[in-house]
Amino acid sequence: MMESIVLIGFMGSGKTTIGRALKEKTGFDFVDTDELIEAEEGCKISSIFTDKGEKYFRELEKNILQKLVAVGGFRIVSTGGGIVTTLENIPFLKKLGRVFYLRIKPETVIDRLRGDVTRPLLAGKDRLIKVKGLMDARKDMYEKAADIIIDADDISVEKIVEMIINGT
Ligand code: S3P
Repeated sequence: MMESIVLIGFMGSGKTTIGRALKEKTGFDFVDTDELIEAEEGCKISSIFTDKGEKYFRELEKNILQKLVAVGGFRIVSTGGGIVTTLENIPFLKKLGRVFYLRIKPETVIDRLRGDVTRPLLAGKDRLIKVKGLMDARKDMYEKAADIIIDADDISVEKIVEMIINGT
């Protein structure tokens, strides 16, 4: 049986874009944990953070991941950038499939998310400092969860899709 493809990485690493491109290329189902959460809660991630807080969001995220593992089957799964911060999630990510970590530099995040208002953790001033702080704190968690690491700063979506399909 083929394993599902699981994409992890920081905000702006391209998980959703690459997940969709993989779906186009392979025809397999694609799901994004943030989209599943928004659909289930009937509101945007940013509202969940403001109204109910990050802790509540992390519970939803953990439950969605466990549901995906329970349902089984083959699909492409893109995850929220902070999914690895719930350490309990790491074995579930691995159970779900082959975990690809799209690794990027803080400067790439800043470039790609200029003007973005959908990420509550990056709201306000001093974005580069925030990104560096979060990345430092998460680095080991991403690496621990990853089966394969792809340095994704300067590679095209097409190339990354090809690398993932080839399993490298
Ligand atoms: C988060 C990343 C977001 C979303 C939420 C929290 C994080 O997903 O889950 O805003 O903690 O890094 P993306 O990585 O898809 O932006």
